[in-house]
Amino acid sequence: MKNFYITTPIYYASGRLHIGSACTTCFCDSYARYKKQLGYDTRFLTGMDEHGQKVEIKAEEKGISPQEYVDILAERAKKLWKYLECREDYFVRTTDQNHIEQIQKVFEMMQENGDIYLGNYEGWYCVSCETFFTATEVGAEHVCPSCGKKVSIVSEESYFFRLSKYAKPLLDYIDSHPLFIQPESRKNEVISFIKQGLEDLSISRSSFSWGIPIKANPKHVVYVWLDALFNYLTSLGFLEDDKSLYDKYWLEGEVVHVVAKDILRFHAIFWPAFLMSINVPVNFTLFAHGWYLMMGDKMSKSKGNVIYPETLVKRYGLDSFRYYILRELPFSDDTVCTPEDYISRYNNDLVNDFGNLVSRTFSMADKYFQGHVEKEETDNPYLLDLKKTALETISLYHDYMKEFKVNKALQEINKLVSRTNKVIDETLPWTLFKEGQTKELKAVIYYLLEAIRIESVLYVPYLIETAPIIFAHLNTTKEEENLINLSFSNKNEYNVVKLEGPLFPRENDPDKAKEEIIKDMEYELSLGA
Ligand code: MSP
Repeated sequence: MKNFYITTPIYYASGRLHIGSACTTCFCDSYARYKKQLGYDTRFLTGMDEHGQKVEIKAEEKGISPQEYVDILAERAKKLWKYLECREDYFVRTTDQNHIEQIQKVFEMMQENGDIYLGNYEGWYCVSCETFFTATEVGAEHVCPSCGKKVSIVSEESYFFRLSKYAKPLLDYIDSHPLFIQPESRKNEVISFIKQGLEDLSISRSSFSWGIPIKANPKHVVYVWLDALFNYLTSLGFLEDDKSLYDKYWLEGEVVHVVAKDILRFHAIFWPAFLMSINVPVNFTLFAHGWYLMMGDKMSKSKGNVIYPETLVKRYGLDSFRYYILRELPFSDDTVCTPEDYISRYNNDLVNDFGNLVSRTFSMADKYFQGHVEKEETDNPYLLDLKKTALETISLYHDYMKEFKVNKALQEINKLVSRTNKVIDETLPWTLFKEGQTKELKAVIYYLLEAIRIESVLYVPYLIETAPIIFAHLNTTKEEENLINLSFSNKNEYNVVKLEGPLFPRENDPDKAKEEIIKDMEYELSLGA
C-alpha cells in the first residue's frame, strides 16, 4: 500500500479560527479522503503553534499562564475541526514534551554540523507574525509588510543559522525537482527571492521566555519558526527510538505541506534548509494557495471582516460549507468571499443542480419502475454523450486533483451534473412514460442513476454527509462506491428508494439571509472572540 502524508500549517494560538484557516484544514481533510479513496494509507496532521512572544503577551493580558492560555485554544481548535468533520490523525502541539525534546536535539544537531553561531541581532521584528524584517521591508512607516502592524527594533544576543550557505543548494534542489513548489507562480517567487541573496537567520530570542529553551544556554529560547516547522517531523517521532512513522510517511511516503502564500518563504526556504542542515531528505511537495478575502481585504479580526465557519454551517449544513470553501479555493489568486456568493453557490450548485437532479431522478425511478431499474443498453445520442462526458469527467477530475486544483476538479463534477440535468430535458422521461416506451425510459433512468452514482463517488471527500445518503438510497455496494475502478455501466441494476425531503433545502430569501450573516459577523466581533 502506498503512503500519503498531508499537513496543514499549525495555526497560531492567538484567537478564534475563521474560514481562512478552515480553508486549509478542509482542503487537507478532503485531499486525504480522496487519497484514501484511491487506496492510500494516509496520515493527516494539523495542530497548534503555541510558543512565542505574542502568546506570552496575550496570556498576560488575560491574567493566565501561557500554558493555560494555549490549552484553551488547542481544545477550541480541536473542537472546531471535529465540528467540520476534519479528521486529523494527529493534533500536534509545540508544547508537547516529545516535540520540545526533539527540537532541542535538532538545535544540537545543527550546531554539531557547524550551521549555528552566536552573534548579535539588531533588526525590525513583528511580534504578530513572529518574523524579522529588513529596513526596506518595513519602510519609513515601520509597519510589517505581511500584517500591517507596527514593528519594533529588537537588539539582542542571538544564535544564527547559516541560511546564506543554503542559497545554492536550495536553487539546485528547486531546479531538479520541478514539482517541489506548486503552483508554478509561487515557485518563481521563491526563486527570485533566493536569488536576491539569503542572510543568516536569527534563530533564538532572549528577551522573553515562552519558548523552547536551548539546553546549553537556557536564557535563549528557540525562534518560533524553527520550533514550528519541525512539527511535521517531531509528530512522526523522527528523533525518537521508534521511527516507524517517520520511515513510513516521510521516507517511504508522498508528503504534501499545504499552506497559504503568507508563509510560503518559511516553507520553501527555511524548512528545506533546516532539513539539509541535519541531513534529512527534503521529501515533500509544497502547495501554497492564495487567500480568502472578505470585503476586499485579508480576513482578520482587527479589520472586522471575519466570517466564522459556524455561522455558515448552522444555516446551510456542513456539506455546503466544505463544498463552498473548496469550490472557491483561492488556488493561485485570492478569492473574494461574500455572504451573497455563498448563498448563490449554495442555491445554484447544491439546491438547484445537484439536489434537484437526485430528487427528480429518484422520484422517477420510483414512479416509473417502483425503484427497480435494470441496466439497459441504448443508442440514444444524448445518453451516449452523457456516458462520454462522465468518463471524461473522471479523468479530468484526477488530473486536476494531481495539481491540487480542487476548485477545478469540483467544477468538472458540476459540469457533469449540468449535463445530466440537460439529459432530462432532452429525453423527456414523462413523455416516454406516457407513450409506453418502457425500454427507452428505462435506459434514460438507468443512465441518470449511473451519472448520479459517479457524481456522488467523486463528491465523497466534500459532500461528506450527503454522499452516504445518496448511496443508501441507491443501494450501492462498497465496490460500486469505489473510486479506483469507477466507470459508467458497471452496475447491473438499481433498487432506488426515493428521498423523503430535499437534500439541500432552498434559501428562499437570500437578501434577508445575507443581512443575518453580516449581523452574525458583527455580533461575533463584538464578543471579541
Ligand atoms: N503558525 C504559523 C504556521 C506555522 S506552520 C509550521 C502561522 N499560523 S496562522 O495561524 O497565521 O495560519 C496561517 C495559515 O492559515 C495560512 O498559511 C493559511 O493556511 C491559513 N489562512 C489564514 N487566513 C487565511 C485566509 N484568509 N485565506 C486562506 N488561508 C488562510 O502562520
